[in-house]
Amino acid sequence: MSKTILVTGGAGYIGSHTLIELHNAGYDFIVVDNLVNSQKESLYRVAKIIGRNIPFYEVDIRDAVAMDEILTLHPVDACIHFAGLKAVGESVSKPLEYYSNNMTGTFVLVEQLRKHGCKNLIFSSSATVYGNPAQIPITENCPKGQCTNPYGQTKSMLEEVLTDIQKADPQWNIVLLRYFNPIGAHPSGQIGENPNGIPNNLMPYITQVAVGKRPELGIFGNDYDTHDGTGVRDFIHVVDLARGHVSALSAIERGCGLAIYNLGTGQGYSVLDLVKTFERVNRVPIPYRILDRRPGDIATCYSNPSKAFEELGWKAQYGIEEMCRDAWNWQKNNPNGYEQADY
Ligand code: NAD
Ligand code: UD1
Repeated sequence: MSKTILVTGGAGYIGSHTLIELHNAGYDFIVVDNLVNSQKESLYRVAKIIGRNIPFYEVDIRDAVAMDEILTLHPVDACIHFAGLKAVGESVSKPLEYYSNNMTGTFVLVEQLRKHGCKNLIFSSSATVYGNPAQIPITENCPKGQCTNPYGQTKSMLEEVLTDIQKADPQWNIVLLRYFNPIGAHPSGQIGENPNGIPNNLMPYITQVAVGKRPELGIFGNDYDTHDGTGVRDFIHVVDLARGHVSALSAIERGCGLAIYNLGTGQGYSVLDLVKTFERVNRVPIPYRILDRRPGDIATCYSNPSKAFEELGWKAQYGIEEMCRDAWNWQKNNPNGYEQADY
């Protein structure tokens, strides 16, 4: 009998891509999402791609009563926990909302999972926990750094909370996945990243310039100590990232206890590398202007992803060209994201 996974935040960018990979690997799942940063349309589209309906609950994970009811109705084997608020700038102006949503949400979720006898959890963490990294490429042994914003603090603190929970009760299997910079979209062009308002992150900004929604890209600084002066990041195709979660489930099934993995490609590309590759692969010009550095940004951040390969057999398959191709394929087919939904 196939295993059932609770996917919190499953209507979002990474969650929706992960549903497809879970399906491909033979898992069943249920989705809980309050749609605070997503649309139901993403789930309709995933359902179309995988050819089956998706059990979905429009619920805030902080609602313990509703979570209790859902888990009573659907016993689950493991949870992949994507639900959270993720906009760095907004977290600075709305710290209480971010701490409440991300911290309390995780507390309620973990309590309900434990109550229902499910002690298997995969948590969406971030390379942001390394702060300004002490070493490049970054291994999981690299000490955690100073997070300069409430969003990053929630990731770092939740890692500590989950580590303590697992230490106190070794029946828990908890995998902390530290994502680097997910970009791109499912190759079908049906699902992708759909930010509200002005994008904070680089790739959605580039695709909105490409589609004519914004006149030009602002590049935050060209005086960093990198090969061309712009920031260097470890961009990873969202489908590769999604597959990393399926690999992490196999670690849970083997009884991994607490495990931490970087999910990145191990390759660093600069902002200008990404812009130039996007233009070349898609034959679309991206006008840009150099602006001041963005506060809180670091020069260089890329992973050593070999632990995930050695222990999970997981490795990113897609390169930067495919990331650019698929990001554009999604945006040009859906210039207004999921807004055109006719449901
Ligand atoms: P996303 O905003 O697209 O998805 C998150 C989903 O969680 C959304 O659908 C949102 O509606 C839902 N949600 C938020 N709070 C909720 C709550 N209280 N109850 C129920 N649902 C709730 O973001 P994403 O890019 O798919 O990121 C998924 C996770 O990965 C997040 O935890 C994020 O912090 C983390 N992460 C993302 C990145 C990135 O670059 N996208 C990098 C590192 C870590
Ligand atoms: C950001 C967050 C990080 C979070 C991650 C995923 C900050 C400081 N960090 O990472 O905590 O985990 O997103 O959500 O916000 N850039 C431009 N112009 C733009 C946008 C970005 O030049 O319009 C540059 C940035 O300066 C950076 C690179 O592109 O050098 C990547 O930026 P971004 O996509 O926002 O990701 P990170 O800052 O790496």
